[in-house]
Amino acid sequence: MPGLELRELDIDDADQWIALVLRNRDPLTASNDGSLPPSTMAEVRQWLSSIGERDFQPGIWLDGELIGHVMVSHISHARASEQSKAEMPGSFGVGYWLDSVHTGRGYVTEACRTLMDYVRREFGATQFVSAVKEGNPKSAAVLERLGFEVTQNSNGEMIGYRLVDPRSETALGRTPVDGPISAT
Ligand SMILES: CC(C)(COP(=O)(O)OP(=O)(O)OC[C@H]1O[C@@H](n2cnc3c(N)ncnc32)[C@H](O)[C@@H]1OP(=O)(O)O)[C@@H](O)C(=O)NCCC(=O)NCCS
Repeated sequence: MPGLELRELDIDDADQWIALVLRNRDPLTASNDGSLPPSTMAEVRQWLSSIGERDFQPGIWLDGELIGHVMVSHISHARASEQSKAEMPGSFGVGYWLDSVHTGRGYVTEACRTLMDYVRREFGATQFVSAVKEGNPKSAAVLERLGFEVTQNSNGEMIGYRLVDPRSETALGRTPVDGPISAT
């Protein structure tokens, strides 16, 4: 998509990030347990320094402006039980959000698809999981466009989703991606 790209955040982006989070406080708190993504300089600093090797959390940028966030994290970086980590070595968790003034144009679907393809190629991802709070049809629609299906693992008001790649890990290939990850 023209002008759309994924770029990792660094501390120089913190002011823009915090303004974006605070501007979207209501939809962000409504879509999860009520907490916000990092929204002070200290929280942003701590968060950026904790991002792991197979933990991709780039900003979504449109013509150079930060408009949202996508996360694809190896399951060992998410809150998974030891047993599920062992059962799902090629499994990655997916999350996302977008500035409310930029919704309705497919940016998040495109950003997720680009990052998931990157993780398939580079890290042999074979399965993606996510969860959506009941009553968030826009988020469920993102996952459905990407091919996710509802799982039996729904927990309280969170509905579990899963996408299993039909190809085997060895068939995925390991072609490295040169240059920045781009959603264009
Ligand atoms: C959930 C959220 C990211 C969805 O945003 P979104 O803009 O609807 O998602 P996308 O960027 O994929 O865009 C899809 C919309 O663009 C439209 N669209 C236009 N061009 C498109 C394209 N090329 N590809 C896909 N969709 C396109 C779709 O029809 C859809 O619009 P509709 O809902 O009116 O049918 C956003 O509402 C949000 O950030 N909410 C608050 C936080 C949140 O809920 N996060 C998820 C927690 S689980």
